[in-house]
Amino acid sequence: MALQQLLQISFFMLIACTAMAINPEAEALLRWKSTLIGANSLSSWSLAHPTCSWYGVACDGAGHVTALSLPGEGIGGKLDAFYSTAFQNLTRLDLSSNNLAGAIPVNLSMLLTLTSLDLSINSLTGAIPYQLSQLPRIARLNLGDNHLTNPEYGKFSPMASLEFLSLANNDLNGTFPWFVLNCTGRRMRWLDLSANSFSGHIPSSLPEMIPRLRYLNLSYNGFSGPIPRSLPRLQELKELCLDNNNLTGGIPEELGMLSELYLLMLLNNTLDGPIPASLGNLTSLGIMDLSRNQLHGSIPPCLAKMQHILAFRLSGNNLNGVIPPELFTNWTMLQLFDLSKNSFSGSIPAQIFNFTILR
Ligand SMILES: *[C@@H]1O[C@H](CO)[C@@H](O)[C@H](O)[C@H]1NC(C)=O
Ligand SMILES: *[C@@H]1O[C@H](CO)[C@@H](O)[C@H](O)[C@H]1NC(C)=O
Ligand SMILES: *[C@@H]1O[C@H](CO)[C@@H](O)[C@H](O)[C@H]1NC(C)=O
Ligand SMILES: *[C@@H]1O[C@H](CO)[C@@H](O)[C@H](O)[C@H]1NC(C)=O
Ligand SMILES: *[C@@H]1O[C@H](CO)[C@@H](O)[C@H](O)[C@H]1NC(C)=O
Ligand SMILES: *[C@@H]1O[C@H](CO)[C@@H](O)[C@H](O)[C@H]1NC(C)=O
Ligand SMILES: *[C@@H]1O[C@H](CO)[C@@H](O)[C@H](O)[C@H]1NC(C)=O
Ligand SMILES: *[C@@H]1O[C@H](CO)[C@@H](O)[C@H](O)[C@H]1NC(C)=O
Ligand SMILES: *[C@@H]1O[C@H](CO)[C@@H](O)[C@H](O)[C@H]1NC(C)=O
Ligand SMILES: *[C@@H]1O[C@H](CO)[C@@H](O)[C@H](O)[C@H]1NC(C)=O
Repeated sequence: MALQQLLQISFFMLIACTAMAINPEAEALLRWKSTLIGANSLSSWSLAHPTCSWYGVACDGAGHVTALSLPGEGIGGKLDAFYSTAFQNLTRLDLSSNNLAGAIPVNLSMLLTLTSLDLSINSLTGAIPYQLSQLPRIARLNLGDNHLTNPEYGKFSPMASLEFLSLANNDLNGTFPWFVLNCTGRRMRWLDLSANSFSGHIPSSLPEMIPRLRYLNLSYNGFSGPIPRSLPRLQELKELCLDNNNLTGGIPEELGMLSELYLLMLLNNTLDGPIPASLGNLTSLGIMDLSRNQLHGSIPPCLAKMQHILAFRLSGNNLNGVIPPELFTNWTMLQLFDLSKNSFSGSIPAQIFNFTILR
């Protein structure tokens, strides 16, 4: 009788322990882990430890998983087994810089609490599921550096909470993706579509649709046509990279109105015309690279007003005239100055030899 009681008690304890250990979130994570290759860093993922102490897992006060952050852990495998209805409180998922392959499963778009999804720098393939745009709270979406192909652009839903979007370095093509303009809005601060095969014009309505951008990178694509004169409406823009495209026409005088601009990269296009004197008004500018274009005329002396410039490149254009000596009296922070492969005349201003860094 005593023995039977003891056995019964042990049995109930076993049940209790098992019920405690197998919470659905732990079960879902373990199921996904079992499909992975090279998940050595996930050795703490076992029912022997509380789920909230597992490597890369963060929980809320109630013990629900709120974040999974495993960047650069050498994890291989797929995402197919990741989704589970158990993840009711997951806000951040960061699996960047791993070896994940295969497609992005549509069911990730059912993780309705997500605010940040980072799958960048993996080997993901297939079309970007438009359903990700249905994540109601998504603020940060980074799918950069994969091999993803065109989504069904027309099926995107409005993503009013989106602040950061990178689709850089994928296999996207066609004209500028309209969903970016039509489905995002005033919260967008960071847009990176660089290193794809987009072509056609840069839409002139971009500044009106996403007016609060601070970072815009469209470099290494096949965009053609002019730099939109409307860009200065991006009054908070700090970094503008339009380099390595097929842009033509002149550098719009209006760019001089981007008063917050720190970085201006227009190199390796086929821009022609003069360097607008208005660029001298870019007094926050640190880096300007206009090299490998077809710019002509001379360097406007009022560029001397860009007193915070660190790096200035105009090589490989058709510029001529004399190099204004004012540049070197005012540009006290200059570290890189490259005017090679042009047709400048006159002597090198003596002032340049007073630059300790250049010298
Ligand atoms: C999620 O989607 C993947 C790929 O389509 C599928 O293999 C998997 O069974 C789905 N998981 C759930 C829980 O629906
Ligand atoms: C976790 O998710 C559940 C289900 O959506 C919700 O009832 C609960 O309030 C969430 N907990 C927290 C701390 O947000
Ligand atoms: C876009 O890429 C797809 C493959 O991802 C290709 O089939 C299609 O021809 C490309 N379209 C253009 C316009 O280059
Ligand atoms: C995006 O919006 C513009 C203006 O609101 C509209 O003309 C255009 O048809 C829309 N494009 C798409 C693909 O939804
Ligand atoms: C813009 O994109 C290119 C290509 O992806 C990248 O090499 C470059 O670093 C980016 N520029 C900035 C300022 O982030
Ligand atoms: C730029 O234009 C030229 C000719 O118009 C074309 O041959 C080239 O492929 C284009 N480059 C890109 C990156 O689209
Ligand atoms: C400049 O652009 C052309 C294509 O437009 C490309 O072939 C070349 O590699 C680029 N140069 C550099 C230095 O990126
Ligand atoms: C520079 O900006 C001032 C106002 O801030 C403006 O009056 C002037 O025309 C601009 N200079 C050029 C060369 O555009
Ligand atoms: C040098 O910079 C100052 C602002 O710091 C500006 O007022 C002045 O005009 C500049 N000098 C020249 C020659 O442009
Ligand atoms: C270089 O600096 C020295 C001392 O600071 C000054 O006397 C000289 O005029 C400067 N030279 C030029 C060309 O600005």
